[in-house]
Amino acid sequence: MKKGNLIMLAGLVLLTLTGCGSKENVVMTPAGEAVITADGKINITKENKDVKEQKVSEPEKEEENKTETGLLHVGFAQVGSESGWRLAQTDSMKAAFTEENGYRFDFVDCNNDQKAQISALEQFIADKVDYIVLDPIVEDGYDEVLEKAKDAAIPVIVVDRNISADSSLYTCWVGSDFTKEGKDAANWLIEDLNKKNRGAEELNILTIMGSNGASATIGRTDGFEEIAKAQTNWKLLDKQYGDFTKDGGNAVMKAFLKQYKDIDVLVCQNDDEAFGAIEAIKEAGKTCGPNGDMILISFDAGGAAFQAMIDGDINVDVECNPLEGPVVSDIIQKLSKGEEVEQVQYMPEEVFPAETAAEILPGRAY
Ligand code: AHR
Repeated sequence: MKKGNLIMLAGLVLLTLTGCGSKENVVMTPAGEAVITADGKINITKENKDVKEQKVSEPEKEEENKTETGLLHVGFAQVGSESGWRLAQTDSMKAAFTEENGYRFDFVDCNNDQKAQISALEQFIADKVDYIVLDPIVEDGYDEVLEKAKDAAIPVIVVDRNISADSSLYTCWVGSDFTKEGKDAANWLIEDLNKKNRGAEELNILTIMGSNGASATIGRTDGFEEIAKAQTNWKLLDKQYGDFTKDGGNAVMKAFLKQYKDIDVLVCQNDDEAFGAIEAIKEAGKTCGPNGDMILISFDAGGAAFQAMIDGDINVDVECNPLEGPVVSDIIQKLSKGEEVEQVQYMPEEVFPAETAAEILPGRAY
């Protein structure tokens, strides 16, 4: 029996015995039927089934798991490995959830397949992990599996992307403000054009979006378009999905170059798409970047994109911070001690124009 239950039981027994002179008493307690022996010992004679099956609180649950393995068991259902950003985020999580740090870490690469991701979550529940970490591939469709995790009293921490499920179905979320990233990109464009006295110019803008249904795609698109639609001289010509991959960016850009002769601005919703698009642009005999035929805006701001800014191919990179491992580990440590955590935590992020790249690249962590 847990220490807390014993104290409660002892208190109740004392109350029951007040004014009672018998040497052995049968009493009803929250833990079940008990007998007080002549020498004052408490013996449970008939255990209350409801109390036995009652769900334990998080710190008690952790104690139980730790006595078995000495480690906190964490399951991470990762989106996939589509981009350099994704690999940096995986590395950050793996570096945080090591055995030396007190964790048993189950990592599943869901290969951008939501069905596989839901199966991974179901397996974590069946394995009775202590915590689930979910990076949702898309926004919708997780309600049912999150209900199951809640029924099993397994806290779920959502990372990076957002989900549409009610916030009562998960413990907390830590990740990026994608709408702000999109707005930051558009606001940088306004400032840059104004600096160059090009603010009133008619602009043809194309976007290579990320993957369909992902909150990173939805937020960046909405944020950019909200600002862009207020600029009467900006024309949003077209937008297509590039799946956050280099191949996707390359294929979409090749199609754009065939269809549109006059492109002023290309927005790539991550660095990998930008790398694929740059190849397609160069193959077509065109250029992009600060001195190129078209302005190229990218997202993520990984090391390779800093190099592409130094090389003159990308104008600006809006950061998406993948270093979420230590933040998630800190959340789990707090929850395990029964401490409260913030329900929503944004990662710190900046905007890096090409002219800052050479100075900043040496200090970048990814
Ligand atoms: O969810 C974050 C996005 O997903 C990153 O921008 C992208 O590179 C990744 O694949």
